[in-house]
Amino acid sequence: MTCNPDLLIKNIGILATPVGSSAKGGKEQGHIELIEGAFIAVKDGVITGVGKANNLMDFKPAENTKLIDAGGNLVTPGLVDPHTHLVFSGWRQKELSLKLKGVKYLDILKMGGGILETVGKTRRASLEELISNGMKALDRMLEYGTTTCEAKSGYGLNLEDEIKSLAAIKELNRLHPVDVVPTFMGAHAVPAEYRENKKEYIRLIVEEMIPRVAREGLAEFCDVFCEEGVFDIEESRYILECAKAHGLVPKLHADEITPMGGARLAAEVGALSAEHLIYATDDGIRAMAKSGTIAVLLPGTSFYLGESFARARTMIEEGVPVALATDFNPGSSPTESLQLVMNLACLKYRMTPEEVLTAVTLNAAAAVKRASTIGTIEVGKQADIIIWDAPDLDFIFYHYGVNLVRTVIKKGKVVVQ
Ligand code: NIG
Ligand code: FE
Repeated sequence: MTCNPDLLIKNIGILATPVGSSAKGGKEQGHIELIEGAFIAVKDGVITGVGKANNLMDFKPAENTKLIDAGGNLVTPGLVDPHTHLVFSGWRQKELSLKLKGVKYLDILKMGGGILETVGKTRRASLEELISNGMKALDRMLEYGTTTCEAKSGYGLNLEDEIKSLAAIKELNRLHPVDVVPTFMGAHAVPAEYRENKKEYIRLIVEEMIPRVAREGLAEFCDVFCEEGVFDIEESRYILECAKAHGLVPKLHADEITPMGGARLAAEVGALSAEHLIYATDDGIRAMAKSGTIAVLLPGTSFYLGESFARARTMIEEGVPVALATDFNPGSSPTESLQLVMNLACLKYRMTPEEVLTAVTLNAAAAVKRASTIGTIEVGKQADIIIWDAPDLDFIFYHYGVNLVRTVIKKGKVVVQ
């Protein structure tokens, strides 16, 4: 049967993609389909054909078909960044010199700086300012190959400003080609006005913020910063159980700076993902493997905070699907580049290029519940595609520190050229 595509990508040197619609752990994580000399046909934003050039005759270009010559380069699915703190006002470059003097991230937070400094500026910012800041970050993400990202609130920390942040995320999703998936994170820190009364802040989250966010459909996920001096295990469990009761899917910032037992908690509450996991224990990793919780690892944060690197190899070997994300935020990971994260994962986690590709496409899509529509290049999936300035997959892990994305296609349209 012939069909006239509205986009045809030809002369692909190597097409590299995971296959399927669910997260892959264990050996499966490194299983990538490689097609040499491939083509991709797209109609109405959806992939209608993928294969070897000699099968191309079934896809006759019509007069209005857009033809793209991939120039013999590598083609992969669009990248998915499943953990970002996209919406804020207040970069914190002055923390750099403190860090160089040896001041610790959690000590800056204890002194009322860190996240709380960004909270002050975000509260004072207008909705328009938050949108404009977010647009700038999304432009950069897209240039570096990210076609879908998750975005957490969490710099408002009161009802009005958390809603304002989620409204900004909703508007960013509408305005920008990058799809933005919303997560409510009112439990990102305890705001200064509740320092002596954390219980009351948790009551506010549970009785006012979560019901309103859920009622107005402003978020799909709920995340908590489970960390020493922030929210402990039982507080985190209580907030996530309440979120679940309101239809929000739990995620957790787990074992980032202190071993807290966050990985096990994520498994126990049935979280879709546990994120960071630098200090996850063997017991926690096994619990995650059993519950099917995805590990969203953030090597950029380890690099930037000077912390250890999460035990990605152990997680993969235990059968936990590993996804990778930037953690883009103004404190612990000020970068939009998922490419840098991919390089770090390869060299510091010792993940293979194939495992990393799965981690930033299919597994990342699964971590935001989008694996049935994005994350692979297969017939029926949304046409989110990258043409790289690279001849093969190894090259993008070898030539590092520069942007190797040549063309980005989102829903069948060229958005970066
Ligand atoms: O994932 N840990 C909590 N949140 C972010 C940091 C946010 C900030 O420092 O502004 C993180 O590391
Ligand atoms: Fe984070």
